[in-house]
Amino acid sequence: MENRLFIFDTTLRDGEQVPGCQLNSVEKIEVAKALEELGVDVIEAGFPISSPGDFNSVVEISKAVTWPTICALSRAVEKDIEVAAQALKYAKRKRIHTGIGTSYYHINYKFNSNQDEIIERAIACVKYAKSFVEDVEFYAEDAGRTENEYLAKVIEAVIKAGATVVNIPDTTGYCLPEQYGEKIKYLYENVKGIDRAVISTHCHNDLGMATANSIAGITNGARQVEVTVNGIGERAGNTSLEEVALIVKSHDSLKVETNINTKKIYKTSCMISSLMNMPIQPNKAIVGRNAFSHSSGIHQDGVLKRRENYEIIDPADVGINESSILLTARSGRAALNNRLEILDIKLSKERLDSVYEEFLLLADKKKDINDDDIMLLVGDVKTEERRIKLDLLQVVTGKSLIPMATIQLDIAGEKFSATKSGNGPVDAAIKSIKSIIHRKTKLQEFLIQAMTRGSDDIGKVHMQVLHDEQVYYGFGANTDIITASIEAYLDAINKMSHNGRQVNQQKELIEDNNK
Ligand code: KIV
Ligand code: ZN
Repeated sequence: MENRLFIFDTTLRDGEQVPGCQLNSVEKIEVAKALEELGVDVIEAGFPISSPGDFNSVVEISKAVTWPTICALSRAVEKDIEVAAQALKYAKRKRIHTGIGTSYYHINYKFNSNQDEIIERAIACVKYAKSFVEDVEFYAEDAGRTENEYLAKVIEAVIKAGATVVNIPDTTGYCLPEQYGEKIKYLYENVKGIDRAVISTHCHNDLGMATANSIAGITNGARQVEVTVNGIGERAGNTSLEEVALIVKSHDSLKVETNINTKKIYKTSCMISSLMNMPIQPNKAIVGRNAFSHSSGIHQDGVLKRRENYEIIDPADVGINESSILLTARSGRAALNNRLEILDIKLSKERLDSVYEEFLLLADKKKDINDDDIMLLVGDVKTEERRIKLDLLQVVTGKSLIPMATIQLDIAGEKFSATKSGNGPVDAAIKSIKSIIHRKTKLQEFLIQAMTRGSDDIGKVHMQVLHDEQVYYGFGANTDIITASIEAYLDAINKMSHNGRQVNQQKELIEDNNK
């Protein structure tokens, strides 16, 4: 048995049939080029008779792509086959994929026909396709629910008619892996001339068995798998390319090899997900956001001791270079230290202890802590040096309420508080501060940014505060943006204090004002 497994990608045909996933021709060319780089053997570029847009995409992809075979779908209808052949005009390697339903349901309720007539039509479509191209793939639609004896007759007839590849689709995703494997084995053992064609799997995921069925097909003699990136496809989708590629790579016992450059998988997956507006479920095998993330302390510890303790795939093998350790409230000091090392940050033992305490406080408020958060925690050394510190901030705000803020400041060890109203909570808090520290300041710029994605994220605030014709920059970061804003304002005020006027003068000022 050959050990080369051909990867037939149908992201642009079966995948693109999904409502909401349609791409324009330019995007399809981009995807086709990415698939070529990934190393797929066949790109099913579309169903040319279905629309002028599909026809045009097959033409343009044929021009743009160099080495993979370009395949066009057709029904067992002469006009379909002619149009498919026209669309493939510029392909360097071309294949027509034609076929007909072979199950009891399809023969009786779709074609209102009988088994003999269906065999005749199958032979005719292959012969007609063969008059245009050498490489003809035949699909027996709903082969998953077609009895094996009849299926074998159809397959034997189409191979005799010239089919080079015979596709055995489990169109409804019904088969169990043993049943599907048994079907492929039956064809392999009972179809005369089967060695002149490649058997192809085409499994749908309605019962979550598409990949298992494809693998059962491979172990029983199939040497082409029809797949889509991210398993995208109608209903529950198709067999996912990345799963098959990684299963084959991880299990030598399967004795097959693909041409897939697995390092390009993640990039291609992200690109297709975003172009097709089809988010990837976080726990999706291989490409999901959590596929290589360890969040429990025990697993993190195990992975840090040796990756293989909990990982069967190196994330780098699929092009993911991020750390697999997800920092959460359950992470230990070792996990934090590991991330610091990756970020090339060296801390003393005492400093690590204090950063870890701050990290745990942050992790209680924010689900996962990313590298930017860590940088902020580590960089946030100013608090201890600041002479004016924020002890307490309480705001009342909302629709139909007058925003109020109560502030308590620690100035060189002494406590001062004030409550003021304002046109918003930040304005109220700054007015409270101004009522304690009588500084003439003017906010010149006030920028709030979320560090990453979620609503639980850290907000970063940059401020430019004008005082005595000089601009002072203030920075604050907190999961609460009002606190971050006030920290930024105080950061700027502290810089003013350092700039000539010492805290004692501050205190004098305050005392004067309180007289
Ligand atoms: O699922 C299926 O049967 C198909 C064929 C058209 C190949 O997509
Ligand atoms: Zn399909």
